[in-house]
Amino acid sequence: MWSQIIFLVSIIVVTIFLLLELKKVLIRFYIALQGPFFAPTNSQRIKQILELAELKPGEKVVDLGSGDGRILIALVRAHPQIKAVGVELNPKYVKLSRDNIKKAGLSKKIEIRKSNFWKEDLSEYDLIVTYCIKMVMGKLERKLKDEIKESTKVISVFFQFPTWKPKIESGDIRLYQK
Ligand SMILES: C[S@@+](CC[C@H](N)C(=O)[O-])C[C@H]1O[C@@H](n2cnc3c(N)ncnc32)[C@H](O)[C@@H]1O
Repeated sequence: MWSQIIFLVSIIVVTIFLLLELKKVLIRFYIALQGPFFAPTNSQRIKQILELAELKPGEKVVDLGSGDGRILIALVRAHPQIKAVGVELNPKYVKLSRDNIKKAGLSKKIEIRKSNFWKEDLSEYDLIVTYCIKMVMGKLERKLKDEIKESTKVISVFFQFPTWKPKIESGDIRLYQK
């Protein structure tokens, strides 16, 4: 009787483990085919980011995976004296964000780099914004803790870091500091 229960529980545990691994493989396969996920931050969340950021003139901001550029455009409109950089891997969104920034008349104030943010040095920024997928939050937490200054603010949209406790939470927008 006990051996049957142990066998059944083992089968369930192994099945759950395999399904979770299969999910990761399918996500990697999707990213390899389609490029990284794009989901824009909505205007309510951008308002929350603006409130938490408390930017000062001259500060430097980066959006890791800047998509269509909407967060940077909103930040620079609210704080024209900041320096803003977007790092975006997908050429489609590099072009779209550059077009949107041009339409907003902010080409001189926002730089979009076509680059992989894992290769970027994040030590120079005062504010880092990120809206990534859950799978990479642990790796990103380690990179940020290794590279950023004590004073740097990190704002994450929706996803939380696995061990880093947020300093401020506003709905699903969270601000972190070392
Ligand atoms: C969820 S979207 C967020 C877009 C934008 N930050 C916003 O909140 O509206 C994530 C973006 O990150 C980009 N991305 C994902 N991995 C990346 C990487 N390693 N380097 C640069 N960009 C990346 C995707 O192409 C996508 O545009």
